[in-house]
Amino acid sequence: MSGPLLGLDLGGTNIKVVLLVPDGDTFRAAGTWEYPTEAGEGPTHVADNLIRATRSHLGENSGIDRVGVGVPGLFHSATGVIELFPNLPGGWEGFPLGATIQHALGIPVTMVNDARAFTLAEGLVGAGKGFRIVACLTLGTGIGGGIMIDGQLHLGAFGVAGEIGHQIIDPDGPLCGCGNNGCVEAMSRADVLTALAGKESAEEVYRTASGGDAGSVAAIEAVAEALGIGLANVVTLIGPDRIVIGGGIADAGDLVLDPIRRTIRERVTLVPPERIDVVASQLGKWSGAHGAALAAAQPLTRDR
Ligand code: BGC
Repeated sequence: MSGPLLGLDLGGTNIKVVLLVPDGDTFRAAGTWEYPTEAGEGPTHVADNLIRATRSHLGENSGIDRVGVGVPGLFHSATGVIELFPNLPGGWEGFPLGATIQHALGIPVTMVNDARAFTLAEGLVGAGKGFRIVACLTLGTGIGGGIMIDGQLHLGAFGVAGEIGHQIIDPDGPLCGCGNNGCVEAMSRADVLTALAGKESAEEVYRTASGGDAGSVAAIEAVAEALGIGLANVVTLIGPDRIVIGGGIADAGDLVLDPIRRTIRERVTLVPPERIDVVASQLGKWSGAHGAALAAAQPLTRDR
C-alpha cells in the first residue's frame, strides 16, 4: 500500500483534482478541487496549469510521492508524448506532456487516458465494483470508453483498447476528430447534441427536454441511438455484466440512459435483454481524477 495519491483529470474546461489517502487496505477521497484548464492557451500553458495545480498540494508534510494524470486522448505509454487529443484546441500531437510534468515535479507521474481512469475508479470502487466484466462510457466533449475484466483494465496489445467512441457505426457518417468517418463519437458528442437540438449547451438540452421540448427530446434520442448501437456491439463482443455511463451528459440520468438502454436491447439479439445492465456512474464528476490517482498506485500495462 502506498502513501497518499493525487489524481488529476484534464478536461476541456477544468482540471479536477482528487486526493486519496490510505484507509485500511483501500483508499478514500480526502479532498476534491477544480482549476481552470485554459485550453485555448495551448499545450505549454495547460501543462503549466497541471503543474501548478499539483504543486499546490505537494507540501512537505503531504506525503504525496506520486501523481496520476488522466488525459483526454492517446499518448505514447513509455514517453508520455501526446499522439491524439481530438478535443482540445492547439497543436498537442507530439507535445511531451508526461516528461514536462514529471521534470517540473520531480516525482513519478503516471499518465492514463481519462476514460480508462474513469473505468478504473468505477470498476474498483464505484458502480462496477463486484462485477466481472465492466464496460464504461463517458459522455462529453468527446466520447470515452474503457473495459475492465476481472479487476484489470483491458488495454489490449497496443495499449489503447477500450475506445468505445471510436467504433465506426456509419462508414459514410460525419468526420470524427480521429480522422475516421461515422464513429460513435462523431454522432453523439456534446456539440452534436446541442447542434441537433438548436441549443447553447448540453445542460440546456437536458433542462428543456425534461420540460417537454420536442426538439431537445428528439436530439437526445438521436444521440442515444448512436451510443446504444456502439454499446450493443460491446455487449456482443465482450459480454459485460455491467455497463457504467458517466461524464457531463450522464448527469441527465434516465432521460439519457433510458433511450440508450432501449437501443441496446433492440440491437442485441444474442443476449437476453433483461441481462443487459446499464447504470450511471457512482463517483460522478470526480471519477476520472479518482481513477487517475488509483492508476498512480498500480502498473498499467498493455497486454503482452
Ligand atoms: C478520445 C478519448 C477520450 C475521450 C474523452 C475521445 O475523443 O479519443 O481517448 O477518452 O475523447 O475525453
